[in-house]
Amino acid sequence: MSRTDPTEHAAPATSSPVTLRVNGTEHVVGADHRVTLLDLLREHLGLTGPKKGCDHGQCGACTVLLDGRRANSCLLLAVAQDGAEVTTVEGLAATAPGGGPHPLQRAFLRRDAFQCGFCTPGQLCSAVGALAEAAAGHPSAVTSAEALAEPGRPVEPTAPEIRERLSGNLCRCGAYPAIVRAVADTAAAVVPAGGAA
Ligand code: FES
Ligand code: FES
Repeated sequence: MSRTDPTEHAAPATSSPVTLRVNGTEHVVGADHRVTLLDLLREHLGLTGPKKGCDHGQCGACTVLLDGRRANSCLLLAVAQDGAEVTTVEGLAATAPGGGPHPLQRAFLRRDAFQCGFCTPGQLCSAVGALAEAAAGHPSAVTSAEALAEPGRPVEPTAPEIRERLSGNLCRCGAYPAIVRAVADTAAAVVPAGGAA
């Protein structure tokens, strides 16, 4: 009887090291291949800012910035993000000019833009991404034909634009009007009316 190669039936690896730069700090984590980015942030790194609302990509509570673009972290496998730069709500303040809370965080406070606050981390990360997208000229479903005629022109972050761009972020408390005002305040401070950055 021939000898069997002991590695022939070895179980496939179920975890791999993942390197992520999160809020400016590099982490190397051994991640189960089934772990989502949201669970890795919350359970492995203790960053409980990103919230698990639906776990199905429907509420936006888990939104983070991934390489500068907003993303639903519940829909992403952590191992597939190896080498990525992640910003969670805990790291937003560090991106604010001059330090302290991010201008959006200040605006949320000033405008009373939250009630229970569960959706707020996702709203904040999503709004940062949405304003950057508008400033970079990315159109939305409500962008005017006039603006669409000039590809790449910064899109003015009007209230309808803000509502449309943040429509993936649900707030069960219904704080939407104040959220839109807070985002508009921040947009006005960063992107003057007319769209010039
Ligand atoms: S928890 Fe990710 S979209 Fe709801
Ligand atoms: S403030 Fe409660 S869900 Fe938005």
